[in-house]
Amino acid sequence: MSAAQGIHGVLHPAGPQASAIYQLWLVMLWSSVVVFLVVIGFAVAALTHGMRRGPEPVPVGGEKELARHVSTAVGITVVVLFTLLAESVWTGRQTSSLQTSTAVTIALTGHQWWWEVEYEDALPARRVVTANELHIPTVRPVVLKVTSRDVIHSFWVPNLQGKRDLIPGYTTAIWLAADQPGVFRGRCAEFCGLQHAHMAFDIVAEPEQEFERWLERVRQPARRPENVIEQHGQEVFMTARCAGCHTIRGTAAHGGIAPDLTHLAARGTLGAGTLPNTPAHLGEWVLNPQASKPGNQMPANPLPADDLAALLSYLGSLQ
Ligand code: CUA
Repeated sequence: MSAAQGIHGVLHPAGPQASAIYQLWLVMLWSSVVVFLVVIGFAVAALTHGMRRGPEPVPVGGEKELARHVSTAVGITVVVLFTLLAESVWTGRQTSSLQTSTAVTIALTGHQWWWEVEYEDALPARRVVTANELHIPTVRPVVLKVTSRDVIHSFWVPNLQGKRDLIPGYTTAIWLAADQPGVFRGRCAEFCGLQHAHMAFDIVAEPEQEFERWLERVRQPARRPENVIEQHGQEVFMTARCAGCHTIRGTAAHGGIAPDLTHLAARGTLGAGTLPNTPAHLGEWVLNPQASKPGNQMPANPLPADDLAALLSYLGSLQ
């Protein structure tokens, strides 16, 4: 249900941290394969030897040789485990920070069950809030300041970075960068209630200039209604319950408990990756959001057909 293309998984890294994690995965995989084959090889050799010759007493002086073999095996095991430990610590350091002052800073807050996204800026007026879809520039590092508003969630975009828990009342920083343009699927990776499975998002990585254009457009207030139908749709939005929970910047709607809808029409999905963002799905969603995402906090809105059509026309204009 997302605009994301390609294969989404840790085995298809698209950034420096994901590459480091992938390298660690390869080292661990092949070390385990070699250890497995050696152990099974010795076990099979011992079995076949025992079956051919039957039980035999340990020869005189054999205990010493046996002890030497066991010590060697223990020594090799210790070396292998410490090598893997060192590799793991090194990967942790590689992925923890990208050490730059030119990063894009995004505050990401988990909610049951959607993502609040705020692009930070030194000038408060240039900060901007959106939801469920992050745009980032390629190559340039991004630092995400992650937290949660309710329960523990977990941020995970397998192509770009490892997982990070979002803990209520506690903010941590996670760095990532995308080597190439693309749409990368992300999701919540910690069970957080009924709709944990419908808590997804997309990261759209695009060249720096495109990203700046996107950010500039998102900073703009919502487009004004341009005809009577859109005008009526905006009135429906303000007088039905929508404005109590949602914000549309540039209007009187300042609700703070649900996703910002200022540029809703530009997003790829509805309900945090639950449905594709099409007029038909938006109509279903407005009338009865509990049908496709049971348990979410948005109530049903049994609007008359003409009001619904006007509302959809208005929301569809919010590019
Ligand atoms: Cu949020 Cu699972």
